[in-house]
Amino acid sequence: MKSAITHLECAKCAKRHTHEKLQNLCDCGGPLVARYDLRAAARTLTAEALRLRPPTMWRYAEVLPASERVTLGEGMTPLLHTRRLGGRIGLEALYVKDEGLNPTGSFKARGMAAAVSRAKELGAVKLAASTAGNAGGALAAYAAQAGIPCVVVMPADTPEANALECRAFGAEVRKIEGLISDCGRYVSEQKTREGWFEVSTLKEPYRIEGKKTMGYELWEQFGGKLPDAIIYPTGGGVGLIGMVKAFDEMEAMGWIGKARPRMVAVQASGCAPIVKAFADGAASAAFWSDAETIASGLRVPKALGDFLVLAGLRATQGTAAAATDEEMLRAGRELASLEGIFAAPEGAATVVAAAKLAANGWLRPQESVVLFSTGSGYKYHEAWRQALEGQSRSPVAGASAAGLDP
Ligand SMILES: Cc1ncc(COP(=O)(O)O)c(C=O)c1O
Ligand SMILES: [Zn+2]
Repeated sequence: MKSAITHLECAKCAKRHTHEKLQNLCDCGGPLVARYDLRAAARTLTAEALRLRPPTMWRYAEVLPASERVTLGEGMTPLLHTRRLGGRIGLEALYVKDEGLNPTGSFKARGMAAAVSRAKELGAVKLAASTAGNAGGALAAYAAQAGIPCVVVMPADTPEANALECRAFGAEVRKIEGLISDCGRYVSEQKTREGWFEVSTLKEPYRIEGKKTMGYELWEQFGGKLPDAIIYPTGGGVGLIGMVKAFDEMEAMGWIGKARPRMVAVQASGCAPIVKAFADGAASAAFWSDAETIASGLRVPKALGDFLVLAGLRATQGTAAAATDEEMLRAGRELASLEGIFAAPEGAATVVAAAKLAANGWLRPQESVVLFSTGSGYKYHEAWRQALEGQSRSPVAGASAAGLDP
């Protein structure tokens, strides 16, 4: 099936740009988003057609950019009804979308599959990105599959597995003393000199497109409808922005009506710029100084798309919540021991938020709620060691060992 893409549009000033050449940001500094002829897309992208398509994110080809795919089989991850965990926190219809089962163990595979496919198609010769960790691993894998060299720039204290996987995939890894914001500055300074096409978060248009497929999959997995609420661990916010965009596209194609799942952004207490901005009623977030959390993917002190995340939360009557590292580690143990899901701390943060929002009545017991477990725990040895040491110091029998305090 052919992509129905027509052009790119600036998310800030609405200026139109062509999708037929490599693009980074708009002249105004705003991120670019892909637009499609959705009437044309809807003619072939139907529930009936989907039944016959392979279980990868490329089943939504009409609303994805590339015609030549660089793929490792990303997408269509399981949606698990987590009854025991739900019982613990008082939510009957609690689901976990296990994104840790994607290639390279995180949802970053979706975005990078789309971005690298399109970059290759448009002639990029060397790719680069700043990363909190998992996006680097995904970039390195898809660049390897594409046969394009790449440079990954990450904070020096990123989990070791992220640097190892990048090197295994043949990427050049540069470590920076600092945060992802410092890595971002480094890539901006170097890219022209070194001839890189930058694929850092929101610096090119197509990672949103790959990640929005999580929203399309939910519609299929819920049998042609959407859940009442979605809880998403938010760093740069690409998945949240992408799903909100997917729902708008689905409405335009006649798949759904006006109602939307309430979107919830979860951040780490040690780096919660979106949570603060949401509480303050602000349209964008301020830089968060001294960002610190074990959830490396949430250590994003300033997101380029913060205004889009905040708009998405407000447009859907959503909210924002924070989880401490301690809470994430305990919730991760609970998710693992009650449900058999070995999650990254970012995913565990969604369990903390669900417990808090169920306890204060924001989530009602019968509502369908989806938690995004965005990455596999297998890459987070450092965090898991800490989580399990904590457990052995205070052994408590049974399911309440992880004892979420809402
Ligand atoms: C496991 C995990 N979860 C969540 C995030 C945050 O993702 P986003 O940038 O889409 O907010 C990251 C980003 O690195 C991640 O690695
Ligand atoms: Zn613009």
